[in-house]
Order: sequence, then C-alpha cells, then structure tokens
Amino acid sequence: MSAAPPLAAVIGNPIGHSRSPRLHRHWLKRYGIKGEYVALPVLDNDLATVIRAMPCMGFVGANVTIPHKVAAMDLADQVTDRAILIGAANTLIFREDGKVIADNTDGYGFLANIKQSAPDWDPAAGPAAVFGAGGAARAIIVALSDAGVPEIFLSNRTRPKADALRAEFGPKIKVFDWVQAGNMLDDATTVVNTTSLGMQGQPEMRVPLDGLQRGALVTDLVYTPLKTRLLQAAEAAGCITVDGLGMLLHQGVPGFERWFGLRPDVDDDLRRAVMA
Ligand code: ATR
Repeated sequence: MSAAPPLAAVIGNPIGHSRSPRLHRHWLKRYGIKGEYVALPVLDNDLATVIRAMPCMGFVGANVTIPHKVAAMDLADQVTDRAILIGAANTLIFREDGKVIADNTDGYGFLANIKQSAPDWDPAAGPAAVFGAGGAARAIIVALSDAGVPEIFLSNRTRPKADALRAEFGPKIKVFDWVQAGNMLDDATTVVNTTSLGMQGQPEMRVPLDGLQRGALVTDLVYTPLKTRLLQAAEAAGCITVDGLGMLLHQGVPGFERWFGLRPDVDDDLRRAVMA
C-alpha cells in the first residue's frame, strides 16, 4: 500500500479569488509530485478546529490569507521570528509530531522578487518610500529594514496607523501626511505601494508622482493590472519597475519546499499559468 499523497491548502474567507491553487498546482505538475493543493473557505469561528483537524486529514501545511493571518499565528505551537516581527502568519507547517509552525514569507517574497527582477537594486542607496500602513506594509517594512535600507518614509490615508508603525519599528521611519505623500518621492531610491489603490475595482492612486527620481526602484504590490498607474509613471520617469506578481509567486516558495521537499523555480511559465 502506498501512502496517501500529501495535501496542502489555502485557508481564508472569501477564498474564490486566491491565485495560490494555480501557483502550487503548477509546481506539483511540473515536478511530477503526487500531491494536491485546495482552497478552503473557513469561517472565523471554525479556524481553530480546522487547523487542529488538518494534520489528521493528511495535510502537511497551509497558506493563510485574509482574515486569518493574525489568528493563525496565535493558534500555532511555534512562530518563527519573522512572523512575530510582522505580527501575522501566511504559511503553516504541520510537523509529523503534530506541532503547528507559523511562518510569514511575505517579506521574503518581496525581496526575492526584487532581487530576481532588478538584481542591481541597492537598498542602501537611499531612503525607501512606502505607501500604506496595513498588514502588507508591516511585512515590507521588516523586509526593507533587513535589506539595509537606511530610512523609511511612510504615508497612509489614516495617519495614526503610520504613527503606530513608527512607534513599533522605530526612528528609521519618518511619517508623512497623506496629502503630502508625493513629497516622499523627492529623495527616495526605493518606492513601494502596499495599498490597494490601483487594483482592479478599487480607486486609482491619486498621489502626485512627479517627484519620482530617475533610477529609483519602484514596485507595486498590486498585480491586477500588472502595470499600475504608479508603474506606468515610474517607467516614464526612467525608474526601474518591478510588478507585484513576482512577490506572490516567490512568497509561495518556502512553503512548497517545506511541504513537498523540493525548492520550486519562479519563471515566466509560472507567471503565465498564474495570470491565465
Ligand atoms: P493589506 O493586508 O493588503 O495591507 P489592509 O491591512 O486592509 O490590507 O490595508 C490596506 C491599505 O490600503 C491601508 O494602508 C489602507 O489605508 P487606511 O489605513 O487609511 O485604510 C489603504 N487604502 C485602502 N483604500 C484606500 C483609499 N481609497 N485611499 C487610500 N488608502 C487606501
């Protein structure tokens, strides 16, 4: 008798639009691994029960998405340092001894995407400007600090959230009022949009972008559309642009490797499969 194939899942609510099943199924197929990856809608009240039951049902791990990223961390037996710093988990590993490990690979995915798409990026060259102060911004701030960015300019529509991040992550962060967010660009050599502005079905990003500096690295976490208004303006200003799809793909790498035992590649084939 052969062992049942390993299972992995993405859990969230709603979950219908998640691209993670396409991502992991593409890798499973490409590497000929007998395994399955499914999307599971899970209600808040059921999260603990589901996470405890999954290992008994043959699951080796899971991705976690909105709204469970914080709760999943609290339910784990062990939390990695980077997940603690970010304050949320996006990847769970179910160990054979029954322990649940919570990790966060968003910051890893962010940096791996830039390193692959713009290998000459020098994080130490100057300040980074970050739009937004939500969950995604936390991972980006931790990643930028790790990478050696000397200063982080931060602006959010709701200023107290940006002030709170400054209080938590320290004086490296300088907060700008949302109405002056465009001023962050004058000195920034790295620019990141972590808000949902510019996403299909969401309002457009209205921050004045004429301060964008030639040669700056500009990246947008929004990947629908792939070329946002921010990235168009950056291209026109002579910046180096990196779209947000790569971050989604790279953040999946550590989980897939832990669950299925093989470190998968991120390439154009994968991009096409996930965007199809
Ligand atoms: P995520 O985990 O993707 O970061 P989030 O925590 O809900 O999601 O954060 C969404 C971010 O987009 C926030 O910075 C939010 O600004 P607020 O904190 O003021 O809500 C930003 N955002 C969403 N809609 C926006 C809009 N119409 N104008 C400006 N910022 C917006």
